[in-house]
Amino acid sequence: MKIGVIGGGQLGRMLALAGTPMGMQFIFLDPAADACAAAVGAQICADYNDHEHLRQLADQVDLVTFEFENVPAETVAFLSQYVPVFPCADALRVARDRLNEKTLFQQLQIPVAPFAAIESQVELDRAIQVIGLPAVLKTRTLGYDGKGQKVLRTTADVTDAYAELGSVPSILETFVHFTGEVSLLAVRSRHGEIRAYPLVHNTHEQGILRLSLPSNDHVLQTLAETYVTSVLEHLDYVGVLAFEFFEFNGGLFANEIAPRVHNSGHWTIEGAECSQFENHLRAVTGLPLGSTSKLGESAMINFIGTVPEVEALAAIEDCHFHHYGKSFKNGRKVGHGTIRSQSAERMLQQLTKLKALV
Ligand SMILES: Nc1ncnc2c1ncn2[C@@H]1O[C@H](COP(=O)(O)OP(=O)(O)OP(=O)(O)O)[C@@H](O)[C@H]1O
Ligand SMILES: [Mg+2]
Repeated sequence: MKIGVIGGGQLGRMLALAGTPMGMQFIFLDPAADACAAAVGAQICADYNDHEHLRQLADQVDLVTFEFENVPAETVAFLSQYVPVFPCADALRVARDRLNEKTLFQQLQIPVAPFAAIESQVELDRAIQVIGLPAVLKTRTLGYDGKGQKVLRTTADVTDAYAELGSVPSILETFVHFTGEVSLLAVRSRHGEIRAYPLVHNTHEQGILRLSLPSNDHVLQTLAETYVTSVLEHLDYVGVLAFEFFEFNGGLFANEIAPRVHNSGHWTIEGAECSQFENHLRAVTGLPLGSTSKLGESAMINFIGTVPEVEALAAIEDCHFHHYGKSFKNGRKVGHGTIRSQSAERMLQQLTKLKALV
């Protein structure tokens, strides 16, 4: 089975690392000459809207999937003429645009913080009167790792905010004083089977995910699964989908969805019976899904900007480290480490050692 992947970053690389033992081969399409997934598969180095190269990819593979959702809708439509594409164009259309996303959540009666669509400074000024401060202004598309957003705390912050964010279609949201952030990763197969991993507690630093801690019997697990199931079924979604929530007032506010494998699921490589990467591949290739049960107790820490010394990482028992082979750069995710231990107590001890290295 040959799998085409749009995007050749670390998510693509980890997909191939999971799929290779199952006899799958991978071709990545990515415009970057140094795409880190190229170490584990072939690469077509081309832009996401380059029809000639998209066609070349389609001709060589059995299906196409994504590790990166910010591709033009037209790219997905073009590929779909020649080869099965998972998840479908509709899912990508929703997930790549925050307004489409929030509108769908409302339609499915999934709670969201108050928001407004913004296309000018005048609309922003008007929306602030309704939504109040503090608030968050976010570009509708192309945001990641907290980029493309601005927290507005005072009226002075509002004055030129629309231009400061690039004068592009945006949404304004209430700033949520959440008690925590959680994500639910779920997978739906080509046959409609759905499985979800345990809810994961996420901690961000400067807008970038730093720590993920999968939970045990979280009180909101069932509620989160209800929400994700309605999205998966509504979109006739195939593959892994990540749903990010704010914990607020004992319930959940939907933040966003990612139509792909997700950073807050990296712990599943060592910490779950079947990883998010393997389950995504099982889903898109029509295989039965694997178990999403936890193996022991896990925690994942992102390496941002640089990877700690390999000797130091290897010296921590129960630590599994991943070096993405990317050049080091401030604010860039270049690797991660997962602690997986038999008991929570031991895991927290080993996690303290790993935290000391980052
Ligand atoms: N309305 C809000 N109220 C409070 N905090 C927020 C709000 N929106 C976003 N944040 C904070 O900023 C982080 C990044 O926001 P969001 O998930 O919307 O953007 P992103 O750039 O797509 O992030 P990522 O790529 O990490 O998922 C959130 O995880 C949260 O910590
Ligand atoms: Mg997010």
